[in-house]
Amino acid sequence: MEEKEISPAVIGRLPRYFRYLGELKDEGIERISSQDLSELMQATASQIRQDFNNFGGFGQQGYGYNVEYLYDEIGKILGLDRQHRFIIIGAGNLGRALGNYMNFERRGFLFRGMFDQNPELIGSQVRGVKVMPMEELETFIRENHIDIAVLTIPKASALNVAKRLVGTDIRAIWNFAHVDLDLPERIQVENVHLSDSLMKLSYSINRYEQEQEKTAKKRQTGVES
Ligand code: NAI
Repeated sequence: MEEKEISPAVIGRLPRYFRYLGELKDEGIERISSQDLSELMQATASQIRQDFNNFGGFGQQGYGYNVEYLYDEIGKILGLDRQHRFIIIGAGNLGRALGNYMNFERRGFLFRGMFDQNPELIGSQVRGVKVMPMEELETFIRENHIDIAVLTIPKASALNVAKRLVGTDIRAIWNFAHVDLDLPERIQVENVHLSDSLMKLSYSINRYEQEQEKTAKKRQTGVES
């Protein structure tokens, strides 16, 4: 079958489908109609059907989708049917917060190591994982078959550390440092900027307030005329 190019917008929605389906599965729900799924996810049923049609529709038969099948299939598309071993570079506030987050394991992301350049942090632990010195980085990645490096270090250090990672078999970088990384094609990068999300929130507040003002003005003029 010819490979169809899937739009980034559709791919971007898959984790959310996966999350909701995981919750339904945990609640013991076996089937769900696209209508009920759309109400739950506050998306239109037609968007859900269109999204799923990119992957052959996931065989909706009779009443709705089989939740477990859909969950497994979307998981496979997201590559979550296999495990990934990750390390965190930068054992500061953010690195420790991520290391302490248990749910990554549930999705098959295994927290295996933590690195920092600060000698005072070496030997300290996050959920049983020891902080190691940067000198051990390459050897650890090789010996432990690490595929993902999480960068929670300042911008100024990120480029150099990324260069070192290029010399390893690392397959992906989850980049929290505020800098664009120019890496070979074989290394996938996902940039995360929490402040972007916060700015979107600020935009939504603004837009809501402007709408409210407009409605209030309309009402006033309506009353006056
Ligand atoms: P932090 O100062 O608590 O931790 C940074 C850690 O990185 C320190 O332990 C430091 O010793 C270590 N480090 C610095 N250079 C290093 C190097 N070359 N090799 C190994 N370790 C090195 O800072 P925090 O709050 O944890 O933030 C970390 C970075 O993430 C900051 O640059 C911040 O701007 C960024 N950040 C990004 C967010 C995002 O949404 N993308 C959100 C919050 C922070």
